Amino acid sequence: MQQRALGNTKLTVSELGFGCMGLTSYYGAPADEDEAIRLIRRAVDLGVTFFDTAEAYGPYTNEKLVGRALKGRRDSVVIATKFAWEWSADGERHLNSRPDHIFKVVDESLSRLGTDYIDLYYQHRLDPQVPIEETVGALTELIKQGKILHIGLSEVGPNTIRRAHAVHPITALQTEYSLWERGPEAEILPTVRELGIGFVAYSPLGRGFLTGEIKNVQALDANDFRRSDPRFQGENLDRNLKLVEQVEQLARKKGVTPGQIALAWLLHKGNDIVPIPGTKRVKYLEENIAATNIELSAEEVAQLEATVGKPVGARYAEGGLRTISRD
Ligand SMILES: NC(=O)c1ccc[n+]([C@@H]2O[C@H](COP(=O)([O-])OP(=O)(O)OC[C@H]3O[C@@H](n4cnc5c(N)ncnc54)[C@H](OP(=O)(O)O)[C@@H]3O)[C@@H](O)[C@H]2O)c1
Repeated sequence: MQQRALGNTKLTVSELGFGCMGLTSYYGAPADEDEAIRLIRRAVDLGVTFFDTAEAYGPYTNEKLVGRALKGRRDSVVIATKFAWEWSADGERHLNSRPDHIFKVVDESLSRLGTDYIDLYYQHRLDPQVPIEETVGALTELIKQGKILHIGLSEVGPNTIRRAHAVHPITALQTEYSLWERGPEAEILPTVRELGIGFVAYSPLGRGFLTGEIKNVQALDANDFRRSDPRFQGENLDRNLKLVEQVEQLARKKGVTPGQIALAWLLHKGNDIVPIPGTKRVKYLEENIAATNIELSAEEVAQLEATVGKPVGARYAEGGLRTISRD
C-alpha cells in the first residue's frame, strides 16, 4: 500500500488506516477477542501501518485489545490514541483536558497499549473549561519526555486549530469526513492545508451507511449507537437511502462495491487525507484495502458530488453534537 505523510510533519502512514473502535464499542456486541486480534494482524500483513484507538472506546478495552494485537509488531506500525474524558464511579463522564489529568492518563494509555510511546496522541474533544494553549503545553511536555511523538486534535474548528498550532505544530486533525459528511470542506480543510496539518477522515463509510448494507436499523443490535443516530431514523433513513443509490449506481458501473467508491472518493480528495475505516470482518478489511487501487475520473468525482447531495439529519444526537467545537 502507498504511504501518505500527515501534513508537513515526518509522520508517514499507510494511505488507508484502520479504525479499531467498532471492535469493542458503539456498533453492537464486541468482536470475539481472538478474531479481532487476527483481524488487526491481517491488516498489518496487508500493509496497514496506522491504527486508531482511544481511551474512551470501551472505555479502556479497545486500547488493551490493540496493544495485544500489535505486540511484536510495534516497530512497524503507528499507534494513534486519544484522551479527553474522565469517568466517575457511576460511569458518567465529563471532559477533562487539564495538564495534571493528561499527565496521569497518558501513562494509563501507555500501559494498556503495552508500549513506551504513543505515535500520535489526540485530544478527542475540546474541553471548554481549559484553554487549548494549556492542553497543548502539556502535550509538548509529553513530547519532551518521549511519551508521545506527535499531537493531534479531533472535532475542533479553525480558530482552535490555529491557537493550538501556535503553541506546538499539530500533526493531524481527525474529523468526520465522507461522501455524506462534507462539512470540513468549507473552513477546516483549507485551514489544515494552510498550516501543513494532516487530515484523518473518521467514519469514512458513513458509519457503514455508504456501503449500502444498512437498509433499516431494526437489523442492528439493540445497543448499536446508530439506532439513535438522527441520520438512521425513520423518514431520514428512507431519504438518505436515495443518496446511497447514487453511490451504488456508480459502483455497479465500475464493477466495485459502494463502500469502495466511498473510500476511493476520499482518497481522491487530496493526498493529505487518510481515511480510517473500521470493520469486524476480514472480508470487508480486504475489500476496503482494495479500494486504494480504484481510479475515479474527474467526471466521476464530480458526478458523485453532484448527485449524492446532502443527507437528512444531524450527524450526532444532541449530546454528541454538544461536544463538537466549530470555533
Ligand atoms: N475522533 C472521533 O470522534 C471518532 C468518532 C468515530 C470514529 N472514529 C474513528 O474512526 C474509525 C472509523 O469510523 P467508524 O467505525 O465510525 O465508521 P466507518 O468506518 O465509516 O464504518 C464502520 C461500519 O462499516 C461497516 N463496514 C466496514 N467496511 C465495510 C464493507 N467493506 N462493506 C460493508 N460494510 C462495511 C462495518 O461493519 P462491521 O463492523 O460489521 O464489519 C461498521 O459497521 C473508528 O473505528 C474510530 O477509530 C473517531
